[in-house]
Amino acid sequence: MAHVTALTPTDVADLVAAALRRADATATDGADDLVARARRWGPDLEAGIRAVFAAEDADALVVRLAGAVVDGWLARPVALRDRDRDRLLTPDWFQRPDALGYVAYADRFAGTLDGVAKHIDYLRELGTSYLHLMPLLRPRPGANDGGYAVADYREVRGDLGTMADLEALAAALHDAGIALTIDLVLNHVAREHAWAEAARRGERRYRDYFHVYADRTEPDRFERTLPEVFPDFAPGNFTWDDEIGGWVWTTFNDYQWDLNWSNPDVVCEFAEITLHLANRGVDCLRLDAIAFLWKRLGTDSQNQPEVHGLTRALRAVARIAAPSLVFKAEAIVGPAQVVHYLGVGDYAGHVSDLAYHNSLMVQIWSALATRDGRLLVRALEKFPPKPTTTAWATYLRCHDDIGWAIDDTDAWQVGWDGPAHRAFLSDWYAGRAPGSFARGEEFQVNEATGDSRTSGTAASLVGIEQALESGDVPMLERAVRRLRLAYAMVYGFGGIPLLYMGDELALRNDTGYRDEPEHAGDNRWMHRPRMPWDVAGHRHDPGTLEGRVFAMVRHLGDVRRSLPSLHAAVESVPVETSNPSVVAVLRRHAAGDLVQLYNVSEEWQRCDPRVLGWLADRELVEHLDGEVPRVEDWQLVLPPYAAVWLTAR
Ligand code: GLC
Repeated sequence: MAHVTALTPTDVADLVAAALRRADATATDGADDLVARARRWGPDLEAGIRAVFAAEDADALVVRLAGAVVDGWLARPVALRDRDRDRLLTPDWFQRPDALGYVAYADRFAGTLDGVAKHIDYLRELGTSYLHLMPLLRPRPGANDGGYAVADYREVRGDLGTMADLEALAAALHDAGIALTIDLVLNHVAREHAWAEAARRGERRYRDYFHVYADRTEPDRFERTLPEVFPDFAPGNFTWDDEIGGWVWTTFNDYQWDLNWSNPDVVCEFAEITLHLANRGVDCLRLDAIAFLWKRLGTDSQNQPEVHGLTRALRAVARIAAPSLVFKAEAIVGPAQVVHYLGVGDYAGHVSDLAYHNSLMVQIWSALATRDGRLLVRALEKFPPKPTTTAWATYLRCHDDIGWAIDDTDAWQVGWDGPAHRAFLSDWYAGRAPGSFARGEEFQVNEATGDSRTSGTAASLVGIEQALESGDVPMLERAVRRLRLAYAMVYGFGGIPLLYMGDELALRNDTGYRDEPEHAGDNRWMHRPRMPWDVAGHRHDPGTLEGRVFAMVRHLGDVRRSLPSLHAAVESVPVETSNPSVVAVLRRHAAGDLVQLYNVSEEWQRCDPRVLGWLADRELVEHLDGEVPRVEDWQLVLPPYAAVWLTAR
């Protein structure tokens, strides 16, 4: 590889042009644009790789990735190249107020991929423009962590359909204006993946795809600073494997083998997989557990700088070969760390386009339990601004447990004790604290650290399950309003709101998982219900709970779409009001400013109207139910669990 030692920033484009010539493809429609994109994003590809690998490895890897780019682009169906062109004209499609996500397991939602296509109308009723289908690539047989133990990235789970079905579904979704997101599990593969099998057969090349240690010396040194993700059913971070004759790094379950991303071969494999999936019509890859990719002794081996270099390079590969693809980072980490996934400094806007806003989710639940919004404001005001081309994925529930990521300093600043507040939240949502409205369960209680997480559906956690059981009508009313408030915060934050399947029908916990041997040990399955289509049949009947909640969620989406100021390019700024139970969220936007007020309690509340700031002295419009809060004795008056979105006329 002597000829590539002195790469200049334009070299990726030169490599791409050369590869096109070799493939006799310079006259292919769009080839010039491909080279132009390589000129634009090639420097990013190089910068990402050079941030991670030493010169010689980096040189060779850049050449290989340029080759992957051309192969990937040549294999890209024409319809998707057209989609690339359209998306390049609307690069902010996932930031716009009409962007609305829906998240579901294909099988639990509709049986098969084909079945999902049959329910596109349902998705459109909710205003869905983005569908995340939970893991659907072929997993290992038996226990597979809900599909997050992938045995083949190029095959679909047999019971869901085939790759051809996935392509057909993507095309049908595109026709309906819906983008498709699937998971890309990058940190690990199933023990049954071909790479792991080859490693177990003793092939050196594939052993180097993993972190394998002959004895406990290294694992013990690492363990000193590594946390445990599943202390309950998968303690420790290494698993002895007889066949490979060593300790294998397994952050999650013992059958999920962590990949060695310091091996350039692994990087190439994933560049190819990324383009392979993009070429099936996937619009967004959810980068699963991305924080864990890079291991470093003496640290928790999360959020290491190399993770961002690798993402930058992969993102550039996609930007050149399949520019309509975007990345969503699943990094459930603290505020200071999570912003790096959208990019900080030179990386700003050059890594993932979307990232989960875990803090917002946790703080909504905390505010509902305490009827106090001060901690939410404290935690969120610390967030540095994100790059203007990126967006948060906001959510109330997902398929995972809720980890009580409350920062001790934030808690202290509002006069609370961090560990005590975390314990309180876990008790509250397990329905154990006195007066709790919630019906959840504890997940992964860690005796050593006192840490405990929560499982349960949104409806059960906001109190709908308890209210229905007790037949208490006012209690049910409060619970429904709590759900509306929480989703108003999620829909009103800016960024793409993710509606988790079943929340639109207030589905309660599904305890049936306990009878399924593969699920019984993991209570996250209680909030992964099957879609009861008979119940969904009542969604247009306002006299039913489902009908009411469905209309409520739909209305939030309609209103959201009508407000240009909800474009994710600007920040949401949460501010305290004169009343701890009332949170304000301010959005300044050239298209018009927006002030949101949320009463997180079941009591009437009053607050100083000066929070309306720049809207004051003008005629106000309220967008959610059309009622501008009245002012009495110089105080704004807000009903229980009020959610108010105000602009000036
Ligand atoms: C992500 C998934 C979670 C899974 C883990 C390991 O956090 O959301 O469900 O257990 O990654 O893949």
